[in-house]
Amino acid sequence: MNIPPTKKPVLQVLAGQPVRPLPVWLMRQAGRYLPEYRQLRSQAGDFLTLCFTPELAAEVTLQPIRRFGFDAAILFSDILVIPHALGQKLWFAEGEGPKLAPLDAETISQLKTKKILSELSPVFETLARVKSQLPDNVTLLGFAGAPWTVANYMIAGGSSDESIAVRKFAYSHPDALNHLIGILVESTTAYLIAQIEAGAEAVQIFESWASTIPEPQLQAYSISPIRQMIDGIRNRFPGFPVIVFPRGAGMNYPRYAKETGATAISVDGATSLSQLSPHAILQGNLDPVVLTQGGRHLENAVASILQQTAQVPHIFNLGHGIRPETPTENVGHLLTLIRTKS
Ligand code: CP3
Repeated sequence: MNIPPTKKPVLQVLAGQPVRPLPVWLMRQAGRYLPEYRQLRSQAGDFLTLCFTPELAAEVTLQPIRRFGFDAAILFSDILVIPHALGQKLWFAEGEGPKLAPLDAETISQLKTKKILSELSPVFETLARVKSQLPDNVTLLGFAGAPWTVANYMIAGGSSDESIAVRKFAYSHPDALNHLIGILVESTTAYLIAQIEAGAEAVQIFESWASTIPEPQLQAYSISPIRQMIDGIRNRFPGFPVIVFPRGAGMNYPRYAKETGATAISVDGATSLSQLSPHAILQGNLDPVVLTQGGRHLENAVASILQQTAQVPHIFNLGHGIRPETPTENVGHLLTLIRTKS
């Protein structure tokens, strides 16, 4: 695409420029570690109401921008709004994470693929509201889950250690799983395109369970669906910047960088950044646990990342979402470190 010149550091890095100081945002930067989030969350009552009330969701999206001045605002929503829009019952049990009504080979064919964008219209309104209130230098990010990760929750009916439920399903009902992945590719692509139309300036695809895909199926269940989504987005918006986060991909990280069409790769805390550079634009990989500790441990970890990415385009971020117990002072300290040392 002709990416127009931009003053937004995140977009500059995504265009391949080595910007200094490094732009920074944190996965799950709107969330429970912020007292102002906890207050709005209890006002809203439940998590999905918060996600689907544009006024509240926009406010929550903007909270970390106001408090810390991050370089990107990520839409406040969840990857599981797609199954919800497809008609699978979803709820968030306090302290237990997400729960979904059981889905089996027969019920997959009853998923309602027709009206998902109207079901998700509050999300687009949230993006438009945030966009109108965002400082000029801050990039608005949309996001969605990758098909394998979302199918993982849909088949297990919630979180599933090691993705055992979907992996069994892949052997017992391969056609049904392929069908489900196809539905997710199509609906999530349409959803991301609509996010971009509503104002998202880059999008991130979360493959949070890349670690559990058996290697022989990596192509079919993860690389190829992500590639199809990115191709679909770029058919509509040529060259559009897409960040892919294949958490736990280990040795397969370079394949995600080369084979999905990703603009940038978000790197978890267990994977070395220098293994991937200079072949990709990078994001990540600070250990979320070191951010809970702060002080000298945090300073050392940040220095090491800055040293490894001194020569390459890099967006500073965590290797996974910020932990709820993280002291807000540590986040402030992190931003000061990046802005003075990078
Ligand atoms: O990053 C942001 O600030 C934007 C919002 C965002 C949320 N979820 C809000 C949320 C994003 C980008 C997500 C992505 C998401 N959701 C992923 C991929 C990223 C990852 O962590 O690997 C996954 C796997 C989910 C599914 C999900 N949602 C789980 C497993 C849980 C429960 C665990 C938890 O942290 O509570 C959620 C709930 C959730 N999503 C919360 C938030 C702020 C907590 C809900 C609450 O306030 O009670």
